Amino acid sequence: MPVAKKSDFPVSEVRRFMEPGPIVLVSSAHKGERDIMTMGWHMVMGFEPSLIGCYIWDQNHSHGLIRKSRECVINVPTADMAAKIAGIGNSSGRETDKFEAFRLTPVKADEVSAPMIGECHANLECRLVDSSLIRTYSLFIFEVVKAHARKAPRTPKMLHYTGEGIFITSGRTVNHRKSFKPGML
Ligand SMILES: Cc1cc2nc3c(=O)[nH]c(=O)nc-3n(C[C@H](O)[C@H](O)[C@H](O)COP(=O)(O)O)c2cc1C
Repeated sequence: MPVAKKSDFPVSEVRRFMEPGPIVLVSSAHKGERDIMTMGWHMVMGFEPSLIGCYIWDQNHSHGLIRKSRECVINVPTADMAAKIAGIGNSSGRETDKFEAFRLTPVKADEVSAPMIGECHANLECRLVDSSLIRTYSLFIFEVVKAHARKAPRTPKMLHYTGEGIFITSGRTVNHRKSFKPGML
C-alpha cells in the first residue's frame, strides 16, 4: 500500500475506523422486567476463563437490570436483522417490552435468568465477575459461563457500526493459518 495524502479529521470521529464489533444484542432480566439493548463497544479479555468487557452506558435501562441481576446474555445477530438492531438501539425498555415490540423469541437460558434471543446466531450466557470499573467507566467485565451457536455457517454475516447510522457487513474470510504460531491460533 503506497503512502497516501491524508486530511485531519475530528478526534471525536475516530469511531469510523475504531468501532469494534460485531454489533450484538444484550438481553437482561431482573425482578419480572426484561430488556434488550444494542451494543458495539465490547472486547474479549481472556479465553480461560472466557472474559468479555462491555461498555454499558448508565442512562440505558439495561445498565440497572444488569448491575442488579449481575447477569446477561450477549446475543450475536446476523446482518439480515439490521432493522431490528437499529430499532432496539434507539428505544428504551423503560416503556416497551422489546421482545414483543421487535417480535423476538425469549428462550430460557441454562445458567442465567436473562432470556436468550432465539433468532440470533449465537447466545453467550454471562455473569458479572468484576464491577470495579462500572462507576468510573460503565465498564462491565463478564465471564461467559455457557455458549450456544448454530452449527452453520461457522462465521455468519455480522454487522459492524461506523457511526452516522452506517453499518459494515462482514463478508469474505481470509485464511492465514499457516503464518500463525500454534500458540497464537
Ligand atoms: C449500533 C449501535 C451500537 C450501540 N452500542 C452501544 C454500546 O456499546 N454501549 C451502550 O451503552 N449503548 C450502545 N448503544 C445504545 C443503546 O443500545 C441504546 O441506548 C438503547 O436504547 C438502550 O436500551 P435500554 O434503555 O432499553 O437499555 C448502541 C446503539 C446502536 C444503534
